[in-house]
Amino acid sequence: MLRTRGTEGIIHSQYSTTMVPVLLILMGALATLQADLLSHQKFLLLPPVNFTIEATGIAQVLLHWDPNPEQEERHSDLEYHVKVNAPQEDEYDTKKTESKCVAPLHEGFAASVRTILKSSHPPLTSSWVSAELKAPPGSSGTSVMNLTCTTNTVISSHTHLRPYQVSLRCTWLVGKDAPEDTQYFLYYRFGVRTEECQEYSRDALNRNTACWFPRTFINSKGFEQLAVHINGSSKHAAIKPFDQLFSPHAIDQVNPPMNVTVEIENNSLYIQWEKPLSAFPGHCFNYELKIYNTKNDYVQMENLITNKFISKIDGVSTYSIQVRAAVSSPCRMPGRWGEWSQPIYVGKERKPSVEWQLIAISTAVCFALLIFSLICRVCHLWSRLFPPVPAPKSNIKDLPVVTQYEKPSNETKIEVVHCVEEVGFEVMENSMF
Ligand SMILES: *[C@@H]1O[C@H](CO)[C@@H](O)[C@H](O)[C@H]1NC(C)=O
Ligand SMILES: *[C@@H]1O[C@H](CO)[C@@H](O)[C@H](O)[C@H]1NC(C)=O
Ligand SMILES: *[C@@H]1O[C@H](CO)[C@@H](O)[C@H](O)[C@H]1NC(C)=O
Repeated sequence: MLRTRGTEGIIHSQYSTTMVPVLLILMGALATLQADLLSHQKFLLLPPVNFTIEATGIAQVLLHWDPNPEQEERHSDLEYHVKVNAPQEDEYDTKKTESKCVAPLHEGFAASVRTILKSSHPPLTSSWVSAELKAPPGSSGTSVMNLTCTTNTVISSHTHLRPYQVSLRCTWLVGKDAPEDTQYFLYYRFGVRTEECQEYSRDALNRNTACWFPRTFINSKGFEQLAVHINGSSKHAAIKPFDQLFSPHAIDQVNPPMNVTVEIENNSLYIQWEKPLSAFPGHCFNYELKIYNTKNDYVQMENLITNKFISKIDGVSTYSIQVRAAVSSPCRMPGRWGEWSQPIYVGKERKPSVEWQLIAISTAVCFALLIFSLICRVCHLWSRLFPPVPAPKSNIKDLPVVTQYEKPSNETKIEVVHCVEEVGFEVMENSMF
């Protein structure tokens, strides 16, 4: 405050002597301001011209524009700011005058672009120019619904460049407003290659509702998106096409591990397997091992990166063993678990159970025969006790001895002998288990 007042005092007191320099300073400031304004006018950015959006493939467009011919090319650092408005908002900057976008096109595509100079502070921008690609005709109820696709690695059937190929299967539902005579056609694009489906499955009205490509150009190792397009035709209505993008890692159905073997040694299970049929090398897989104890109804799950596992077993249960695989993150974005391998059954219970059944049956037969023979013996005894002719007394306890005595009489004896053997066998078997 004091200082300001002092300065004012000085200016005031020396007004006449400092008049000329002050005027000069003021004039200088004005000139600078004018120059600034002028340069701003010169830097005024003009929007690009001839902005077009062109569909160049399934779910793919090319945006193209030209630099404004009126724009002074003094700044080599001119860029373009692209804003996608539909079907999904996106923004990016580019130095080029064209760019490729991948997006479903059945709802159309709209974008704007402007010129931008980032090196100035704040960045200078031109006005926007916009363009759009109209949505194809047809009401949305005529489009297919619930489109799902899965890929699977198969061995190349021909002598091909690649040992593995990828099959593709897609299914969908007929649009709820689609006329009965609607027919659908499926196409897929992977990179620059497009193919039309040749093998359809049909519903009761002969409409295509699934498609199978035994071999495709899809690379399961690829990061590119798979684009699927289903359009259709009908005599009664325009059928609106439908586009969907799929990430290969998300729809890839990994094959089960191969050659699963299980060996039992000293109350341990030695489980081994090989990597699934896949273009990925062995180190790319994670495994999930399921050891199911059928006796205790207990499931043991193991997550592994190796392809072998040793597990302790109790020696009395049966186990079912299954393994499944997934491609792990260093090789590809983690996807779903693949199919389980066929179960392998090992352990004590299952095989002996057949023997146990045999033993049970033979025991039952023996028991029946024993009873029968006893009844016979009693009858025999009865007949021997009461008929007038006296016979030597015998005790039931002395059965084997008695049977030997009576060997020559009839067939029941043979059975009795048999029975004794069977009982002996049973006792032996029982003691073993
Ligand atoms: C814009 O397009 C028109 C017509 O296609 C063409 O004559 C003109 O040269 C283009 N402008 C630029 C700057 O390329
Ligand atoms: C189809 O998808 C819709 C929503 O996405 C779902 O509600 C419906 O249950 C699906 N229909 C069938 C048959 O899967
Ligand atoms: C369906 O799409 C394919 C590929 O874009 C095109 O070649 C074909 O003519 C279309 N068919 C119908 C009926 O729209």
